[in-house]
Amino acid sequence: MAIRKIATIGHPVLRQVARPLTLEELRSPDTQRFIDDLVETMFDANGAGIAANQVYEPIRVCVVCVKDNPRYPYKPNIPLTILVNPAIELDATETFDNYEGCLSVPNLRGLVPRATRGRMRALDREGKPIDLEIKGLTAGTFQHEVDHLDGKLFVDRVKDTKSLATWQDFERFHMAGFVERAKELVARYGS
Ligand code: NI
Repeated sequence: MAIRKIATIGHPVLRQVARPLTLEELRSPDTQRFIDDLVETMFDANGAGIAANQVYEPIRVCVVCVKDNPRYPYKPNIPLTILVNPAIELDATETFDNYEGCLSVPNLRGLVPRATRGRMRALDREGKPIDLEIKGLTAGTFQHEVDHLDGKLFVDRVKDTKSLATWQDFERFHMAGFVERAKELVARYGS
């Protein structure tokens, strides 16, 4: 396993629509090794998730895992989930303004409206189908990762640019109010 270099905003690979993998490609030793690297890179950087094109491989693979995350102490835990060729279906009747950050957008956070309910279909690393109901704050984390595979970054979805903040100023001026709202959402959805 190896920790990969993470592309930052401005690099064209982040704007590429990642291509789906065939089952044969997915099951190849190279891809399996790549998935191990992706997971290790996410853990090393304390990310809540990471997408393949963030480490310069424009293929439709992303991973999500939250376990008492120091970058996002208010996020509920999410078990390690590897998503291959994910497709997301959103119920946009309710949205939540989520303060997002990204390993590819260093030292910036901003408010992004995210659907609080949806369904995620994908394959796991062995090619078996995954069908997940996504809800609450956790739904936003999945949407952020699938956006990467479509060449989108959270900054594209920030509606009010006045919400943009460095991590330090997020903590100083915005975190307390946001965590109150986030806790209420998590209590309502259980995730
Ligand atoms: Ni990101």
